[in-house]
Order: sequence, then C-alpha cells, then structure tokens
Amino acid sequence: METVPVSKHKIRVIGIGPGAPEYLLPAAARAIEEARVLVGGRRALAQYAGGGCRTFSIGGDIPAVMDFIRQELAAEDVGVLVSGDPGYYSLLDALRREFPSGLIEVIPGLSAMQLAFARLALPWHEASLLSFHGRRPDDKELIYSKGRILGMLTDGKYNSRSIAKLLMEQGWPVEARLSILLRLSYPDEEIMQTTLAGAQELEEKSHGILIVQG
Ligand SMILES: C[S@@+](CC[C@H](N)C(=O)[O-])C[C@H]1O[C@@H](n2cnc3c(N)ncnc32)[C@H](O)[C@@H]1O
Repeated sequence: METVPVSKHKIRVIGIGPGAPEYLLPAAARAIEEARVLVGGRRALAQYAGGGCRTFSIGGDIPAVMDFIRQELAAEDVGVLVSGDPGYYSLLDALRREFPSGLIEVIPGLSAMQLAFARLALPWHEASLLSFHGRRPDDKELIYSKGRILGMLTDGKYNSRSIAKLLMEQGWPVEARLSILLRLSYPDEEIMQTTLAGAQELEEKSHGILIVQG
C-alpha cells in the first residue's frame, strides 16, 4: 500500500561507493552537485554536502529521517547518500516501504564487497555473499563444501574472530584461507591474510569484509 501522495519531486538514492571519492561514479558526483537537500550519515555529509545544501543526518531514528524526506519532497528533490551500492544492504529497503517506488531514483555505486574481491583479484560470480551486519545468516547458508567462497559484511558483534569460530563450528576446515579487508579505498586500508584458526590469534577486526575460501 503506497503511503504518500504522488509528488513531482524525487528521492535520489545515491551510492557513494566504499569511501574514497576516486571510487564515486561521475553520475553520483553530478547528483550530489545538483542536490539542494541531502540526507546521509554524518561522515558522508561532511565529505559531500556543499555549503548551500540543507542536510539531515541519519542517526538511529529512521522515522525522523522519513518525516524529513516527506516534508522536503513537497518542494524539492531529496538526495540520500548511502555507502557502497544502494541495492546492497542500505536505506533503500526502508525507503521503498515508506514511499512509492516511482518516486525513487537509484544511482548505483561500487559496493565494498566488489572492491574486496577486486583487491584479491578473485572473481565473485561463484561466491555466496552474506551479511553479518546487524544480522546472522541461517546455518544452512554457512555450510562448507570444498572450493566454496563466502564474502561477508561484518559488524562489531560478528567480527573476524566470532565469524571464523562460527564457520569452524559449521564444519569449515581450520586451515581455510581467510582474508580480512578493512577501510577499503581509504589511505589506512588494511588487508590481512590468515586462516580460520589464525583469526583466533589475531585481535578481532570489525566493520570490514571477510572472504573465506574453502
Ligand atoms: C550497511 S552495510 C552497507 C553495504 C554497502 N551498501 C555496500 O554496498 O558496500 C555496512 C558494511 O559494509 C562494509 N563496508 C562498507 N564500507 C566498507 C569499506 N570501505 N571497507 C570495508 N568494508 C566496508 C562493512 O562490512 C560494513 O559493516
């Protein structure tokens, strides 16, 4: 059921890529430049919102974000900055529940997951992509088979150590190769190569990408 009247203005959901501006698509840069109203995380707004732009910072209160967008839409297009690609675990889901999809335009971005596989020079067409960011995939999605590749988003609770332990409990070999990719595209990007057992010896690493090769 659509919850707002049709507006001539659009919500432009803009993927800003993994972080560094060199990974921002020119189409996204143009949409940001054209925006007079921008919604996004504090860091994204600090990086991209120009002086004359009205902004709203996304915190924990999603209904407040939706109210702001709804109000602004009456007069203006609203740009929403999301990290990576909008179609891959972003605010796009919530926006689609709140607004008619006809009001939403998506400008794609490079996902951190894509950059992680690129950094390893590893094709991702046969990989299973899972998110441990604020959720835990079902056990059946974690099943081991020889040669299986998992690409995983992580958070603070599900980090390099807890996920490696979970995978070993699910039958993954202790010597399976684990890549830990952090702060991709930023100057302090870090890429570590270890094994599932080796991850238990390292400090836990969170909010990055894990790639395990079975
Ligand atoms: C809510 S998800 C957003 C995913 C995003 N839509 C995308 O396509 O990359 C947030 C998670 O993405 C991953 N992530 C985002 N930016 C990253 C980066 N620069 N380096 C490593 N991981 C990143 C982390 O796992 C983080 O916890």
